[in-house]
Amino acid sequence: MKHLLKLLDLTGDEIMEVLNLADQLKYEKIHGIPHRRLEGKTLGMIFQKASTRTRVSFETGMFQLGGQAIFLNVADIQIRRGEPVEDTARVLSRYIDGIMIRTFDQKDVEDLAEHGNIPVINGLTDFAHPCQVLADLMTVREYKGSLEGMKMCYVGDGNNMANSLIVGGLKTGMSVSVACPEGYDPHPAVLEFAAGYENFSLEREPAEAAKGADVIFTDVWASMGQEDEKEKRKAVFGGKYQVSEKLLEAAAPGCMVQHCLPAHKGEEITAEVFEKHSAEIFDEAENRLHAQKAVMVMLME
Ligand code: CP
Ligand code: NVA
Repeated sequence: MKHLLKLLDLTGDEIMEVLNLADQLKYEKIHGIPHRRLEGKTLGMIFQKASTRTRVSFETGMFQLGGQAIFLNVADIQIRRGEPVEDTARVLSRYIDGIMIRTFDQKDVEDLAEHGNIPVINGLTDFAHPCQVLADLMTVREYKGSLEGMKMCYVGDGNNMANSLIVGGLKTGMSVSVACPEGYDPHPAVLEFAAGYENFSLEREPAEAAKGADVIFTDVWASMGQEDEKEKRKAVFGGKYQVSEKLLEAAAPGCMVQHCLPAHKGEEITAEVFEKHSAEIFDEAENRLHAQKAVMVMLME
């Protein structure tokens, strides 16, 4: 593994390797065992979109590993004034040991990796959110004991989360069922990948996708950058693409609920379900820290 650009680039074994190291680092953190494995190293974090979890977990994670992180808001660096991504990549490669980037276009992340010579980590694009899904898989394994043979359901927009969950779930041996409204399907490249798996299905009815699920995921109806479509999307998704007590009746007993956060309660998830499953959901948020520390150690040590 040289970069983490999208889960499509990783093998199932590589994903499991990240999860195993994440479990170990979490254990070490809980028991106060030092793990300063990136002493003296620096991570640059380029943000073109808002963030709470990603920024804080990467920055804290790097500190716990003995290194440091630099927050680079796109509004403040020369990219905003037109300096090409490939030049930025070549310059940053001379100073720092890794780059995390959150932006719109997946191509910018791929270009950064191609033109620089340090590891690049995708902290969310319109196409993918691999760091989140590594934390999600870690959390499901923590609660369920394994991933192999479990059924994952995703209800909502076929967005970056849906894309990464489908790939991550299938590569780790889970069955994956997705329910999206027509016109809001996952990315064609992801559907092409999933077409090779018998244990994948794309549905229009959430209750169909939720049948027998061991874990149900959802995410906002309008992602960052889609603010103008908010009302239109509410009309399309409203009243149907929501994780509710009623939907959970179709799932397996003890079904988990996961949400990458931030959540819009009353839209993609009811407040009742959110609170009932809040322990799992905030464990999922915590696991961002441990999973990303594992990614950084694997790429930068
Ligand atoms: N889930 C997630 O990536 O959260 P932030 O947008 O707060 O980083
Ligand atoms: N799909 C959401 C995820 C936020 C973590 C977005 O891209 O805004």
